[in-house]
Amino acid sequence: MAPGEQSRLTACDPGVSLGAAMSKLLLVDDEADVLYSFQRIFDSPDIELTTASSGEAALAEIPRVKPDLVIMDVRMGGMNGLETLRAIRKADPKLLVILMTAYGTTQTAIEAMKLGAYDYLLKPFDVPKLKAIVQNALRAARDMRQTVSDKPLLESEDYEQGIVGRSESMQQVFKLVGQLAASDATALITGESGTGKELVARAIYHNSHRSQQPFLAVNCAAIPEQLLESELFGHERGSFTGATHQRIGKFEQCNGGTIFLDEIGDMTPATQTKILRVLQSGTFERVGGNTPLRVDVRVIAATNKPLEQAVAARQFREDLFYRLNVVRIHLPPLRERKSDIRLLVDYFLKKLAREQGVPAKAISAVVLRAFEKYHWPGNVRELENVIRRAMVVSKGDTILPSDLSVEIAGAGEAASGAVGTAPTPAGMAGAGAASDMAALAAQLFHWARKDPKLRVLPAVERALVVEALKATQDNQVQAARLLGVTRATLRKRIEKFGIQRQTSIT
Ligand SMILES: Nc1ncnc2c1ncn2[C@@H]1O[C@H](COP(=O)(O)OP(=O)(O)OP(=O)(O)O)[C@@H](O)[C@H]1O
Ligand SMILES: [Mg+2]
Repeated sequence: MAPGEQSRLTACDPGVSLGAAMSKLLLVDDEADVLYSFQRIFDSPDIELTTASSGEAALAEIPRVKPDLVIMDVRMGGMNGLETLRAIRKADPKLLVILMTAYGTTQTAIEAMKLGAYDYLLKPFDVPKLKAIVQNALRAARDMRQTVSDKPLLESEDYEQGIVGRSESMQQVFKLVGQLAASDATALITGESGTGKELVARAIYHNSHRSQQPFLAVNCAAIPEQLLESELFGHERGSFTGATHQRIGKFEQCNGGTIFLDEIGDMTPATQTKILRVLQSGTFERVGGNTPLRVDVRVIAATNKPLEQAVAARQFREDLFYRLNVVRIHLPPLRERKSDIRLLVDYFLKKLAREQGVPAKAISAVVLRAFEKYHWPGNVRELENVIRRAMVVSKGDTILPSDLSVEIAGAGEAASGAVGTAPTPAGMAGAGAASDMAALAAQLFHWARKDPKLRVLPAVERALVVEALKATQDNQVQAARLLGVTRATLRKRIEKFGIQRQTSIT
């Protein structure tokens, strides 16, 4: 491609979808075949790919394109990737950059991380890994860009999410969010799953003086115990088996910014000790290293487990608990603030309609009554999913009880007391998972309607089989177990869909 030349394209792979908002990727590389691979890999309606063939061209394009993520080669004629990264960081510290390097040049990748790159990819790259890294980065970019208002908004601006609620307990939450935004104190956010802990963490960040610096979220429960310490603090080469290169951790990468430690209860004692030290003195060492490093990072932590119990059971350090617990925001379960339901329903009906580009629907009084009676084990997330699903299945302009699951619709009719306590049928997922799946199915139908050629059931079946094989490194026994089918059934599907082992491309 000639220097400065641009290309723009879109089409269909739900693999990197992040919901309604379109994500903009800027690819910077002077090699045409890398460009071609990216066009194939990120061929999706949710992704707008723009390209630049030099560092200089990228710097000129960024203010115009306003990308969510830049993926850039290190070795380029003119300004190289590291120089361009430095210039990008200076102009916009929140713009995420992933660097690409060839094998054998990992030292450059490490330099890139120290300069604040979000991640790096080694060429030739593994497609599933590339997609996963891009998906993570786009999520992190969204967290930073999509501002969260600490005002209880109803009509929120585009790219602004409101924390909705007028109940006494939510008023208390708003006050604390405001106070925490004005300070640099560590905060602990507690509450059941789906109550809005992450939303509150982002509201604190967006309203704080660090809002122009990065925000990185780490889900401590999603990372294997033995890797978490290295994820957070990095490691030196050779510090443990498999540590073939030095690695820069999230604390170093996020210097100047805010780190959100989600599910903080799931940490080894060694990691807890390091977190305590970084909170107290701003210093830490990489795993296997002995040079103390200093960072200035604000920590916001969250947990849906009662940490007091973990402290009593000696699984969580008491001194760390007190250090985190200086200011605590507790989000009560939705069933304890039912007066917010009407407002939340109104907010989600408008928000989801706007996201899907369809007119907003109304809900019938009977449905609202059922919502107010139901016990919402999955809290606000469950309510949002129920509305998303109902919007798709409802035929007219009003959501009716027939658009809800039997359990929720039944809550409105049931006599007080026994509401929503029906046991889950054996072999079926719990209420939260069931409603998540219903929402997922609704989203799939949304796509299917847009693309009449898509045969949705076989497509989903195939995607599940591929995903299970990937997750188990092609172990068919484990994959079949994950899918809840026999191995013979799995084999038949593999044959039927002509599924082959994962391949990587250069
Ligand atoms: N008060 C609220 N107003 C508007 N939306 C909300 C509110 N609370 C939660 N949500 C929405 O509900 C969903 C779940 O919220 P969030 O991810 O913050 O929950 P969480 O407490 O972190 O859950 P988990 O413990 O499962 O991670 C999100 O889509 C969020 O935007
Ligand atoms: Mg969360």
